[in-house]
Amino acid sequence: MVRENYVLILDDDRKISDAIQTYLESDKSDVKIKVFKAETPAIAFQIMNENNIDVIFLDIYLKEDNGFDILKKIKSDYENIEIIMISGIKSVGNIVESIKFGAIDYIEKPFDYTKIISSFEKAILNKKKFDRINMKSKVFLDEMKNTSETEIIFGSKKMESIIHDIQKVAQQNTIVLIRGESGTGKELIARVIHYSSFRKNGIFHSLNISSLSDSLFESELFGYTKGAFTDAKKHKQGWFKKAHGGTLFLDEIGDLSLESQKKLLRVISENTIIPVGSTEPIKIDVRLITATNRDLEKLMKLEKFRLDLYHRLKVFEITLPPLRDRKEDIPILIKHFTKTISKKMNKKNIQIDADIYTKLKEYPFPGNVRELKNMVEKAIILCENNRLKCKDFPISKIEIASCEECINLNLKDNEKELIEKALNSTNHVGVKAAKLLGILPDALYRRIDKLMPKKKKKRIKRK
Ligand SMILES: Nc1ncnc2c1ncn2[C@@H]1O[C@H](COP(=O)(O)OP(=O)(O)OP(=O)(O)O)[C@@H](O)[C@H]1O
Ligand SMILES: [Mg+2]
Repeated sequence: MVRENYVLILDDDRKISDAIQTYLESDKSDVKIKVFKAETPAIAFQIMNENNIDVIFLDIYLKEDNGFDILKKIKSDYENIEIIMISGIKSVGNIVESIKFGAIDYIEKPFDYTKIISSFEKAILNKKKFDRINMKSKVFLDEMKNTSETEIIFGSKKMESIIHDIQKVAQQNTIVLIRGESGTGKELIARVIHYSSFRKNGIFHSLNISSLSDSLFESELFGYTKGAFTDAKKHKQGWFKKAHGGTLFLDEIGDLSLESQKKLLRVISENTIIPVGSTEPIKIDVRLITATNRDLEKLMKLEKFRLDLYHRLKVFEITLPPLRDRKEDIPILIKHFTKTISKKMNKKNIQIDADIYTKLKEYPFPGNVRELKNMVEKAIILCENNRLKCKDFPISKIEIASCEECINLNLKDNEKELIEKALNSTNHVGVKAAKLLGILPDALYRRIDKLMPKKKKKRIKRK
């Protein structure tokens, strides 16, 4: 069934919005519409947050607000809504400004029926183009083993273009490097690539490199023969063999030691492995996907990462932007997590107050999508009468400011400073610090063990 097109008219003159509504509704084409009207921007934003608006007719001269400011705000926060500016004043400057700030068209009062309809059709056509792209991604995602583990939710153009890249690369056997801050969805993307490739019936295995010593790396990935070392009581297959026909996801590749990097490079170049204790190379058939939140270029300069391996891994690179740089994803993710998490908790029909979207869009999410997901889960537990309210998301202005400061420290390059800061502000309670950083306690402890001096490590309360 084709959904109606949702139209919002924001004009403080009721007569104008009624007239537009009448024109739109008297159009005999097969475009179905539902009209919403707002006299103030506040009401308009509430309607936008609660409904999936397609097109907005926006008055330039509102009583207390400037239509251009509202146009800019809508375009930055809801980029897939098409906007038609309306004005009582004929001005070339206004037309130029409107288009510059992203409006699809500009119409003058008094209106002419044909102009309203032709502008509206133009907007719908453009919107359809955008939706078609989204729909394609959805179909593609539906074709995969679509569990919640492989569902990518997005509303931003940035993610849309990433999904396109994924569709293309998934069909090939190319090695993929996924970059992005912690919690941006790197592992999720790796799964999606696997389940949309011809390898989908093979296994997908994820390994966190940073938790492996050199010898474990070798025995876990390449396996060993019986008697290869004292504890090798029997032959063991490594993941490169176990994942035959499937995909191996090596997470935190930036943490791999130089010794293990050399071994991995050999596997990639020759497509064979040699189990520990053996001299016989074994042919492998595994797709490799790697991920990191570290600055590999910087690691190379410090001679901690090999240039040749770097080039092998980054044949196809996907960089996931932090959530604060794709805020259009926030409302749709909140809705998605509310739906999936409340279902798991057996709580039905959870309502979401519209101002939550505005408040959370201000928050910079140092822990990215994972942090948002955790926040929603906590809010669902706390909420009363099945209604999520702002107070269930206890982030204050101070937190927003201090988080921004944290981000300025730059997660990738200054892990140590960031961890110290998080520990200091949580009285050295590991679990709390991990939460603040948006990572799992184990991931924090691994980093602490690697980066911190002994004296500091001792102060940390790990339980
Ligand atoms: N676009 C998205 N849609 C739905 N869920 C998402 C999305 N992005 C991330 N998630 C969810 O957020 C959580 C964190 O994602 P994931 O583990 O893939 O991040 P990551 O980048 O691998 O993090 P880390 O660097 O800490 O390992 C997961 O539960 C994942 O399913
Ligand atoms: Mg991960």
